[in-house]
Amino acid sequence: MPRITIQDFIRKKKDGRKITMLTAYDYPFGQIVDEAGIDCILVGDSLGMVVQGLENTLPVTMDEMIYHTRLVTRAARNALVIGDMPFMSYQAGVEDAVRNAGRFLKEAGAAAVKLEGGAEVADRIRAMSRSDIPVMAHIGLTPQSIHRMGGYKVQGKTEDAARRLIEEAHIAEDAGAFSLLMEAIPMDLAGRITEELSIPTIGIGAGPYCDGQVLVLHDVVGIFERFIPKFAKRYVNLREAALKAVSEFREEVERGVFPSEDNSFK
Ligand code: KIV
Repeated sequence: MPRITIQDFIRKKKDGRKITMLTAYDYPFGQIVDEAGIDCILVGDSLGMVVQGLENTLPVTMDEMIYHTRLVTRAARNALVIGDMPFMSYQAGVEDAVRNAGRFLKEAGAAAVKLEGGAEVADRIRAMSRSDIPVMAHIGLTPQSIHRMGGYKVQGKTEDAARRLIEEAHIAEDAGAFSLLMEAIPMDLAGRITEELSIPTIGIGAGPYCDGQVLVLHDVVGIFERFIPKFAKRYVNLREAALKAVSEFREEVERGVFPSEDNSFK
């Protein structure tokens, strides 16, 4: 299978074929997601919560993102890999933003970057796109704005807020974003934005009418316990399986059952 490109994303929208996307943060899960035929892997700054055990994504650094993105691009044979720009890697200004975005392509092998925001970061989306760094914009619930939003809440519920999100989506497209991620917004609003834009939309908690869907891998495979968002679906409980395996190992060592002769050298 050839590597998925930005052009494939756009073609899929035109053909009405759904785009699939999951996060991954390391080599083994990067391989699994890639081998399963997922179109796109996002190395999300959600790693701050699901890998580093932080309260929110704000402390995640550029160097940490570059490190994790490298692990994933090493694993991915076919999927398009997107590096997620962490808090304060693009907020301070255009030049800073372009330099940091460029690091994902130059040092980590990503094909594109994602940043949170629409209108307020339009100048950065434009500058990156003009520097040949493809950008996915992210509107709705933007976790880096947790303090302004007062928590992780569904966005776009009033008429005014919905109108603002529609505007933001168009501004992101006009600035050159190749795709738009929409998080935690009402499904009919997401459907309307999807219809109005010519670039593909990817939803997380945005209902079924988006051009594609993304979830955090650790929610899908059941290894993040702190909370499960309403919009996530757990397809397997790997935490339970891992806990069972580790407990059995402990018990067998304590009882002198492991290692057996089969696991030993003569
Ligand atoms: O960081 C992340 O994992 C995200 C999700 C919305 C997919 O941005």
